[in-house]
Amino acid sequence: SSSLPVFSQEEVSQHRSLSDGVWVTYRGGVYDITDFVAMHPGGEKILLAAGGALEPFWALYAVHNQEHVLEILSEYKVGEL
Ligand code: HEM
Repeated sequence: SSSLPVFSQEEVSQHRSLSDGVWVTYRGGVYDITDFVAMHPGGEKILLAAGGALEPFWALYAVHNQEHVLEILSEYKVGEL
């Protein structure tokens, strides 16, 4: 993952819609989850995190505290913060 590009928080925050792409951050990683939005078991709630950090939302929705959820997320990694 050290070969992935580094993005600023501001750059991430410019990707908060399906047309501009939906990016999120998690533990220093940047993820382009645009293609996952339609597959999300929790529906469009996922867009609340668009352009920012997943942590506060996943703290509220503990269903994400499972290895298989992190495996899904890892498929969408595009860079580091
Ligand atoms: C459920 C993935 C972001 C709300 C789930 C499940 C997965 C998932 C795999 C099903 C878990 C299971 O039942 O074993 C993701 C990923 C996210 C993300 C990869 C980000 C990239 C969010 C956000 C919210 C959210 C930001 C809320 C603001 C929910 C809710 C459920 C859920 C409410 C439960 C749906 C139900 O069982 O009825 N998510 N999620 N998720 N997610 Fe997310």
